[in-house]
Amino acid sequence: MKKILILAGDGIGKEIMTQAVAVLNKVNDKFQLNFQLEEGLIGGCAIDATGVPLPDETLAKAQQADAVLLGAVGGYKWDTIERSIRPERGLLKIRSELNLFANLRVAKLYPQLINASALKPEIIEGLDLLIVRELTGGIYFGQPRGIETLENGEKHGYNTMTYTTSEIERIGKIAFEMAQTRAKATGKPAKVCSVDKANVLEVTELWKQTISEMQQADYSDVELSHMYADNACMQLIKNPKQFDVMVTGNMFGDILSDEAGMLTGSIGMLPSASLDENGKGMYEPCHGSAPDIAGEDKANPLAMILSVAMMLRYTFKQEAPAQAIEQAVSDVLDDGLRTIDIMDSDDDGLTAVGCQAMGGAVLAKL
Ligand code: IPM
Ligand code: MG
Repeated sequence: MKKILILAGDGIGKEIMTQAVAVLNKVNDKFQLNFQLEEGLIGGCAIDATGVPLPDETLAKAQQADAVLLGAVGGYKWDTIERSIRPERGLLKIRSELNLFANLRVAKLYPQLINASALKPEIIEGLDLLIVRELTGGIYFGQPRGIETLENGEKHGYNTMTYTTSEIERIGKIAFEMAQTRAKATGKPAKVCSVDKANVLEVTELWKQTISEMQQADYSDVELSHMYADNACMQLIKNPKQFDVMVTGNMFGDILSDEAGMLTGSIGMLPSASLDENGKGMYEPCHGSAPDIAGEDKANPLAMILSVAMMLRYTFKQEAPAQAIEQAVSDVLDDGLRTIDIMDSDDDGLTAVGCQAMGGAVLAKL
């Protein structure tokens, strides 16, 4: 028996998780996966119940589970509380405590959504790229950090961007291996683009050098390129299909993955996996808790549902049910069902649906 911890979190997290759990229960029965589901609190709802965004009980359950499914955290209500206990800190802490250093964010265009993207169809047609984001280091976790008051009364805010060789090597290894696996599956050459700001920041000069050395020593079959982060932002809009796997640090990865998400029409379509050294993972949509539409049945549950598919594939090595879910998502898009974020109002063959109806439709396909 395998244990999965369900952390719905806040805002639309709850609505999309309800749909994802229904899908998970369905494949659990259909493919006899023998999963046992447990629930826990994280983020704002955990602050309300216990005073902290990641209660010890939730962390203990997460440590015992084989995988964690997470909705989203945060909301207006908690935006002004003390920084060290904000909802987002719960998310950062669980990533760090579980050692989930490898964040895989796939930006894949569903052909049905080609007109939902802000970019021209020819720029994004066939797009399928993977951002490998380092998730437990860099400026998100570097010390010292804080806001202090200087002698002259002025305030001073500071963070530290840091990476050690071993941190870079372990994420580099994931990126190179992912590129090899993808190349095997598609027959295309294996390609990695490492994103840095080595023209300015020493820490990313080390990043660039370490990734280069790894390629020379162990991954000469993988074509490696380097790009400055600002240029990478531009190239992602100009010609996103030049990329296959992109590997980068925590903050650049955060930024680039939102950008890549929009290429596919909506960040509401993007699942992600955060893995430790042994493949244990936490799976979450790339989008946030969207407090502006929470509780209104408007959220797109597909990124959450696709996160279930990623969990089946990466942690449980269950390719058949993973593909069944992905196919079901593709089928409902074929049927013309669209939540507002992916709606194209010029196309009268489409039907606008809410979160529940979209989830229900995926379930029916399974
Ligand atoms: C993400 C989010 C988080 C991050 C926030 C909510 C802390 O933006 O997962 O991309 O910055 O990592
Ligand atoms: Mg982000």
